[in-house]
Amino acid sequence: MKSLTAPHILDGNAIAAAIKAEVAAEIEQLRAHGIRPGLTVVMVGNHPASEVYVRNKVKTSASLGIVGEMLTPPESITADEMLTLIAALNARDDVDGILIQLPLPRHIDAKRLLEAVAPEKDVDGFHPVNVGRLQTGQPALAPCTPAGIIEMLRRAKVPVAGQNAVVVGRSDIVGKPMAMLLLHGNATVTICHSKTKDLASFCRSADILVAAIGKAGMITPEMVRPGAVLIDVGMNRVTSQTEFDRFFAGDAKREAAFQKNGSVLMGDIDPHAFELASYYTPVPGGVGPLTIAMLMANTVRAARLRRGLSVS
Ligand code: GUN
Repeated sequence: MKSLTAPHILDGNAIAAAIKAEVAAEIEQLRAHGIRPGLTVVMVGNHPASEVYVRNKVKTSASLGIVGEMLTPPESITADEMLTLIAALNARDDVDGILIQLPLPRHIDAKRLLEAVAPEKDVDGFHPVNVGRLQTGQPALAPCTPAGIIEMLRRAKVPVAGQNAVVVGRSDIVGKPMAMLLLHGNATVTICHSKTKDLASFCRSADILVAAIGKAGMITPEMVRPGAVLIDVGMNRVTSQTEFDRFFAGDAKREAAFQKNGSVLMGDIDPHAFELASYYTPVPGGVGPLTIAMLMANTVRAARLRRGLSVS
């Protein structure tokens, strides 16, 4: 059964552009007071996949008037050397935001490093102080992807209060903070994960379904209630023709891209399920652009909080 009305696409690029325009205006105001927010992104080692994201973060910073800096210590850096580097960034007055790009090399304990970032500069919202503040509803720096999803729902006027929200995935970066933010929006929240019994029936109970699993097309149409809001956080590369045909048979534009590049990106939700939705985020062009926009917003927020200025 299809949704009664045509599904609305939640256009991440358009919403991210609106957020970035607001952030740029805020930065312009801060500049009048002699404040220029600064963001330092640290990427350890050589990660072709991360590098694209990191460069994009620094480039977007510059386009909005944030002083962006990228540090790329070698893979061989020790945990102690990383701690020294972070301590130096914590102490720098021109740095408002510090982002340690994940994943880190195996020999470095990521949790220990993330705890070393000063909470007031933790624009990822990963420090236990910010996690605790988020949980207890105090002003915090919230993780960018879930904060972006909430912002998207708010701007699209998608109701959250009283809705059954199901989050599939329990990561510290997306699943857990997503659940907390939806709870703060007065949704009734369920977190599902790899050990959940009868995932399909939980998913079918969702008015808002957030998929953050990391497995291409895992949420099938049978798992979706007609009229549900579908938020797809997944970003998976499909390389096999069989898998491509399963999800995209008949999609000439994607077929051309697949034949040209040997792969296409897709989310955790089978695109056929989008036809059932009231609203859905496409992949690419849905949730992805919001993560960077919210990183910019968090950097300005951190700059203001650190100077005792008001934040919304
Ligand atoms: N790697 C993938 N996503 C993220 C993110 O949101 N923050 C950081 N620091 N690393 C990531």
